[in-house]
Amino acid sequence: MWVSRISSFGAQAIKKLTQGVLGQGAYTPRNSYFHARACRGVQSSLRSLQMHRYLCTAIATDSRKDENKDQKTINVTFVETDGSEKHVKVPVGTSILEAAHSNDIELEGACEGSCACSTCHVIVMDMEYYSRLPDPSDEENDMLDLAFGLTETSRLGCQFEATPEIDGIRLALPVATRNFAVDGYKPKPH
Ligand code: FES
Repeated sequence: MWVSRISSFGAQAIKKLTQGVLGQGAYTPRNSYFHARACRGVQSSLRSLQMHRYLCTAIATDSRKDENKDQKTINVTFVETDGSEKHVKVPVGTSILEAAHSNDIELEGACEGSCACSTCHVIVMDMEYYSRLPDPSDEENDMLDLAFGLTETSRLGCQFEATPEIDGIRLALPVATRNFAVDGYKPKPH
C-alpha cells in the first residue's frame, strides 16, 4: 500500500513539473519549488520501486524454496569418460558417490566416503550449479589437490549430497583417477 502511495505522489509530482515547466513556460520561484518537490518525489518513487522489486524477488525466491521443500528426488546426469550420458533420479540427501554406485556408474570411491582419496572426483559441468553447492571443506580441498585432471568446478562425489537446489546437475567423470591402494584395489559399486 505505501509503495503505491509513494509512487502515486511521484506521478503527481511529475505532472506538476510538466505543467509548471513545460506548460506555462516561465520558470518562477514557485515552479522551482514544485521542481524540487517533484525531483524529491521522483527519487522517492525510484527508491520505492527498487525496494518493491527487491521484495518481489525475495518473495519469489522464498516461494521457490517452499515449492522445492517437499521434493523427494532430483535429476542427475553422469557423463561418462566415453561421452555417454546416464540420467538418474537421486533421492534427496544421498551422496553423489552413493548415487553413482546405486546406478552402476564407474565412480570408484576407494576410501568409501571418508575423504581420504580422490577417486570419487567429479566435474560439475555448469558453473551455475557448482556455485549452488556448499563450499568444500579443507580436507576435501586437500584431496582435490591430488586428483587427476583437476578443474575449477571439481568436487569429490562423497562430499556433497543431492539437494533440490542442484536438481538437473550434470557431472562428468574424469578420464583418470589416482588410486592410493597399493594393490590397485578398486571397490565395486554396492
Ligand atoms: Fe575417497 Fe570420496 S571416496 S574421498
